[in-house]
Amino acid sequence: MKDEAVAVRAVATADERRAERRRFLCVAGSAAALALGGEWAARRGERRLAEPPTIAAAELTAPDAGAARVVAAEDGREVLVVRVEAGAAPVAFDRRCPHLGCPVLWSAERARFECPCHHAAFDARTGDVLFGPPRRGLAAARVRGT
Ligand code: FES
Repeated sequence: MKDEAVAVRAVATADERRAERRRFLCVAGSAAALALGGEWAARRGERRLAEPPTIAAAELTAPDAGAARVVAAEDGREVLVVRVEAGAAPVAFDRRCPHLGCPVLWSAERARFECPCHHAAFDARTGDVLFGPPRRGLAAARVRGT
């Protein structure tokens, strides 16, 4: 009687270990798959966002001198189109700040792009950083059909 009880307990323990190992492998496998999937998605998103947005040439119709307007790029991102001064060709930049992605604004009185999040400013003609934390300037939009 005593031997039967020991044998039953030993079998149950072996089953538990097998089930525990299976559970561990399942959780570890799921975690690895999630990590790889997240890494893949992040790299894919970075690659997509690293490319400048594209707008149709028809969208480049300039607002009045010193004014800006927001245009939707082909991938949905926002592009700021500005005619800095009368007679100048309009410029178009990705609206996302290259620092942490806040939408930049056009300051007509200072004739520059400004990011309100961490007080950065960008040159109106080139998109280069004038001051603030961004290490690179605004990305110029591609214009399709010019
Ligand atoms: S997000 Fe624009 S300066 Fe930080």
